[in-house]
Amino acid sequence: MLILSVEFYKGSVDMQKKISSIPFKGTPEQETELKKFIEENKHDKSRLMAVMQAAQEIYGYLPMEVQMMIADGMDVPLEKVFGVATFYAQFALSPKGEYNISVCLGTACYVKGAQAVLDKISEILGIGVDECTPDGKFSLQACRCIGACGLGPVMMINDEVFGKLTPDAIPGILAKFNA
Ligand code: FES
Repeated sequence: MLILSVEFYKGSVDMQKKISSIPFKGTPEQETELKKFIEENKHDKSRLMAVMQAAQEIYGYLPMEVQMMIADGMDVPLEKVFGVATFYAQFALSPKGEYNISVCLGTACYVKGAQAVLDKISEILGIGVDECTPDGKFSLQACRCIGACGLGPVMMINDEVFGKLTPDAIPGILAKFNA
């Protein structure tokens, strides 16, 4: 039984990853699949990470509603689920947008100014890393080397690679995606 309200919960944690404000759109089929997996694993609390990984595969990220289902089903505190979700980089608290932007922060890109590129995108879209715009259109991620170091700084928007980036080039690129 969960006794912690989400509102209290949101305000109680100093979060590096922000909880998405995008409305949760889970389907009954997804819920059935997750609950089945929880049922198979709830006897062993050390399976919490495995359940969270399964949940992320099912939903694509771990919204608060899903974390609550996991906490309830595994009979662990919601804080514990949230703590794991925020600690491990593999877990996402926001969905991917229609356009997912991955800025490479690998060494070669970083020394050529990738952080300034990332900051510019963040400024224009009004979101930080691992967040999604409220309309679900853009999400922003930092990634490791994608093997195009000679073109650095580079970013990908879905499958398209953009290289030799500067902060000044970003508005024009994003405008093509109606940002
Ligand atoms: S470091 Fe960015 S592509 Fe290799």
